[in-house]
Amino acid sequence: MDPWGLTTAALLSCLLFLIFFSLWSQEFKRGKLPPGPTPLPLIGNILQLDFKNIPASLSQMAEKYGPIYTIYIGTERVVVLHGYSIVKEALIDQGDAFSDRGIIPVVEDTFKGRGIIFGHGESWKQLRRFSLMTLRNFGMGKRSIEERVQEEAQCLVEEFRKKKGQAIDPTFILSCAPCNVICSILFCNRFKYNDEKFLHLMKLLKENFQLLNSPWTQVYNLLPAFRVYLPGKHKRHTRNVEAIKDFILEKVKEHQKALDPNNPQDYIDCYLSKMQQEKDNPHSEFDLENLLATGTNLFVAGTETTSSTLTYGLLLILKHPEIQAKIHEEIDRVIGHNRVPSIKDRQDMPYMDAVVHEVQRFVDLLPLNLPHAVSRDIQFQQYFLPKGTTIFPMLSAVLNDSKEFPNPDQFDPQHFLDVNGKFKKSDYFLPFSTGKRSCLGEGLARMELFLFFTTILQNFTLKSVEDPNEFSIRTDRVRFSFPPYYQLCFLPR
Ligand code: HEM
Ligand SMILES: *[C@@H]1O[C@H](CO)[C@@H](O)[C@H](O)[C@H]1NC(C)=O
Repeated sequence: MDPWGLTTAALLSCLLFLIFFSLWSQEFKRGKLPPGPTPLPLIGNILQLDFKNIPASLSQMAEKYGPIYTIYIGTERVVVLHGYSIVKEALIDQGDAFSDRGIIPVVEDTFKGRGIIFGHGESWKQLRRFSLMTLRNFGMGKRSIEERVQEEAQCLVEEFRKKKGQAIDPTFILSCAPCNVICSILFCNRFKYNDEKFLHLMKLLKENFQLLNSPWTQVYNLLPAFRVYLPGKHKRHTRNVEAIKDFILEKVKEHQKALDPNNPQDYIDCYLSKMQQEKDNPHSEFDLENLLATGTNLFVAGTETTSSTLTYGLLLILKHPEIQAKIHEEIDRVIGHNRVPSIKDRQDMPYMDAVVHEVQRFVDLLPLNLPHAVSRDIQFQQYFLPKGTTIFPMLSAVLNDSKEFPNPDQFDPQHFLDVNGKFKKSDYFLPFSTGKRSCLGEGLARMELFLFFTTILQNFTLKSVEDPNEFSIRTDRVRFSFPPYYQLCFLPR
């Protein structure tokens, strides 16, 4: 045999060995795991997933295997939790064991366990606790978070007014606003929507978000062991994150020069004070690198989520003129036109409150949730889950539960109203997930959604040039539900 033949033969036998080994070891490990479809070696069950609608594929499997089952995405073992009661049993009743974060390889390479979203253990715990406290209203000097959001809502409306009722794609402006809110919280200043630096920041954020949702990333995630050999886009992800960190670092340096620890004005001030307090503690988690990672997290988690929900929500309202009319009626009755909306108005506006909840339920922004992992070996129901097992506590199935929300496929604010038109809470409303890992920005996001939607509809009637029934309502659903493309006109009222 020539040398090439030898190499080929050697490679082939290696491959065969790998295949058998992988089959064998999976079979071996399956002992007490939840049931699930038989995986193929190396690629696992990915052929059974529809990459245009992954939540739907996972729901079909739940019909066959029940509310808890095991699949393999590539070589990674994932336990899927499908439905309200099992998600609650894991994230609430066994909250500690289920509170670790599952690993998304592209991201893990970039953050290396720092920060909050992709953080682990003690460092995650401390950063999360500190950030939650700081984000509470009045945590940061004289200006409340509500005032910062109200200011941004007015700027948003001015920006739409400049379009003079022409048909526009609202996506861009609607992502400036939430991004600016994070800027205002982190370092106390907002940007004009055409500021070069700001635009660059937004571009980086958008690009990384799209990278994470692209089929390419799924391939990359498939074979974590080989990812170092796959050139290209994951480097881009890391480079973008570095650029965002640099952007924050510049602000941190300015803040360091002018710091008055007794009078913190924003998140960076608070963090720098905390650093000073802990400067004699050699094990302190509050170092510069964690500040940059956490700041980046707040941008990544707080911009595209809120802006996609806003963009999607306006489309849903545009498609339902009868709903828009009721919103207008309530705003005119409760707030009128002479003052800006405040969060206090929410208790007098059950209809708007229900609309915002229904938008979030219907949009189903993170259908699979972010991946969790079990932090230790645990017995769960009749199964054994080894430490480190990736968990998908699916949100899609909870938000689309047909017993809790009759006709779950319909956009209908009635899902959150009782017969008397009062707001009706639901335990199934989990767009922010639940338990120890649940969304850190829930309070902020809910404030933004209420104030932005209300301020926009206080000022405008939404109309479209085309028949709004022509706009499609769903796009591909992988990890994140991006809104479909559409255009609309903001007609001053
Ligand atoms: C409509 C808006 C938003 C939605 C639907 C949303 C949803 C979520 C979900 C589902 C998770 C994963 C929870 C889990 O793993 O169980 C999460 C995590 C997170 N969110 Fe949000 N989010 C939104 C806005 C925000 C905002 C504005 C911020 C900024 C402060 C934020 C910061 C975070 C952070 C830091 C985490 C990681 C928490 C951790 O790992 O401990 N989110 N979010
Ligand atoms: C929601 O549930 C209904 C049936 O109850 C199903 O037909 C529909 O496909 C589900 N929608 C989503 C987005 O999962």
